[in-house]
Amino acid sequence: MQKMRAIIAREITKLLENAEASEIESLIEYPPNPEMGDLSLPCFKLSKQLRKPPQAIAEELKSRIGLDSFARVEAVSGYLNFYLDGARFASSVISEALTQGDRYGSRNIGEGGKVVIDYSSPNIAKPFHIAHLRSTVIGHALYRIHEFLGFDCVGVNHLGDWGTQFGKLIVAYRQWGDAAEVESDGIDELLRLYVKFHDEAERDPSLEDQARNWFVRMEQGDEEALTLWRRFVDISLAEFKRIYELLGVSFDSYTGESFYNGRMEAVVAELREKALLEEDNGAWLVRLDAYDMPPALILKKDGSSLYHTRDITAALYRKATYDFRKAIYVTDYAQNLHFAQWFKVVELMGYGWAKDLVHVPFGRVSLEGASLSTRRGNVLKLEDVLNQAIAKTREIMEARPQPIADVETVSRQVGVGAVIFHDLGSSRIKDIDFKWEDVLNFEGESGPYVQYTHARACSVLAKAEAAGLALCEIGQQAPGEAVLGALPINEATVRLAKELSLFGERVELAMHKLEPSIVARCLVDVAQAFNRFYHECRIMAEEDGVRTARLALVQAAKLTLANGLRLIGLEAPEKI
Ligand code: ARG
Repeated sequence: MQKMRAIIAREITKLLENAEASEIESLIEYPPNPEMGDLSLPCFKLSKQLRKPPQAIAEELKSRIGLDSFARVEAVSGYLNFYLDGARFASSVISEALTQGDRYGSRNIGEGGKVVIDYSSPNIAKPFHIAHLRSTVIGHALYRIHEFLGFDCVGVNHLGDWGTQFGKLIVAYRQWGDAAEVESDGIDELLRLYVKFHDEAERDPSLEDQARNWFVRMEQGDEEALTLWRRFVDISLAEFKRIYELLGVSFDSYTGESFYNGRMEAVVAELREKALLEEDNGAWLVRLDAYDMPPALILKKDGSSLYHTRDITAALYRKATYDFRKAIYVTDYAQNLHFAQWFKVVELMGYGWAKDLVHVPFGRVSLEGASLSTRRGNVLKLEDVLNQAIAKTREIMEARPQPIADVETVSRQVGVGAVIFHDLGSSRIKDIDFKWEDVLNFEGESGPYVQYTHARACSVLAKAEAAGLALCEIGQQAPGEAVLGALPINEATVRLAKELSLFGERVELAMHKLEPSIVARCLVDVAQAFNRFYHECRIMAEEDGVRTARLALVQAAKLTLANGLRLIGLEAPEKI
């Protein structure tokens, strides 16, 4: 479809004076129903420039444009509507998909440029909670989307493994903790201690001072403090890695906040040298009044560093280490100000690359209307969510008359897929009210629906192979006229071809908008178009030529679904 747009834009540009092809291309729309054409150029904007009524422009363009690539062109109510030649269009889409295989939809936009993506980045020593899932799956999808488009990605987990919360944990552990319980219950026990600390601190505020002191000891390299800290980190990481594995997510680097200890002094000195630091009651900060923002705190009164300090240091480190073209940070929108502040500080330090720092915010998660808070112990543990989704999938699969062989693996793939897709399915900035019935609803626009459709396409192909039919080779030469010329053209077929052809441009749009939900929704569209084709068009019962051509379309749909699922971090089992 993108090629068709380019062809139209080129032809129209030839006919108009002072027209830019890119501008014309951006005007072209995909009409909501095929009676209004497959592509359409609204002539209203042109009407202003040309001082003629839109319908007159549409008619004039219609009479002068070359028709080669289209079945027909109509001028209706100020629109110039283009109707595809279904047969030619469908065969070119199928040929392209089958020759490109698992690269179908990809393009080399990045040309190897580096993109550093900071995602997941949980504060450890707390259970991995459902809000971390958002950063994890959005960031992971952005990683795969960029990679597919030719970027060289570096995934960084900026673990929250430093800060006063560890001081609190140390206080709680020394007063109420028990080594054996921490050993056996891991993060659950750490959470219990953390919640207990906050309960007790309401009665006894001196606990907060003690916690601050312990954190200062950590910063000063105190042996006892660091040993406890390391124990908490190890316990947390072991649990987090288990969850990442379940989600199929990985990172190229685990440089968390503690990594920057010892690296911040130089940055603080640089800020001072550049006359950006100002003292305020013993603390040090960078004023941002001129930019309508509160100051960025760099050092506390007691000399300890802050979240800003670490982020600035980390950005300088990443630029020096990776020389990124773009550095992306995925967090909830509550951190908008934080990122705006320190991005500005980096700019004020004189680094032109501050413009390449991108914050990708997402909406917050509430649980059946109530907000989630670790301090109050109101957490929804991701692992429980995943396990429930897996259990439900398993139940459905085992209730079938003939369950498949590998129920265990497939229930994991589908259950986890349901949870990931639930998170990615709508635009990231929307708040999510987490409802079990939504997550576990596998009908309609869900991950399992797309995965199931992919498996259905696989099963059609498997049946064909079992019947001794030769399928087109993927990644080889295009099947050609001899095969695809026999494809019967009807609405369901053209619609499916159209959805397949839109895949690549939607992936590109998802990259530009940093919005994986665009890929997720595209997959639902492809799946719906495929299911309609599957219900309306016979395959195996047809004569040879038609059957072979339709099987090629099924192959194209299958690989588009598989590519898209992979991009948003879902697996694509062949049998469900
Ligand atoms: N640890 C932070 C949190 O859980 C998110 C860190 C995001 N990354 C960053 N470089 N600041 O809120």
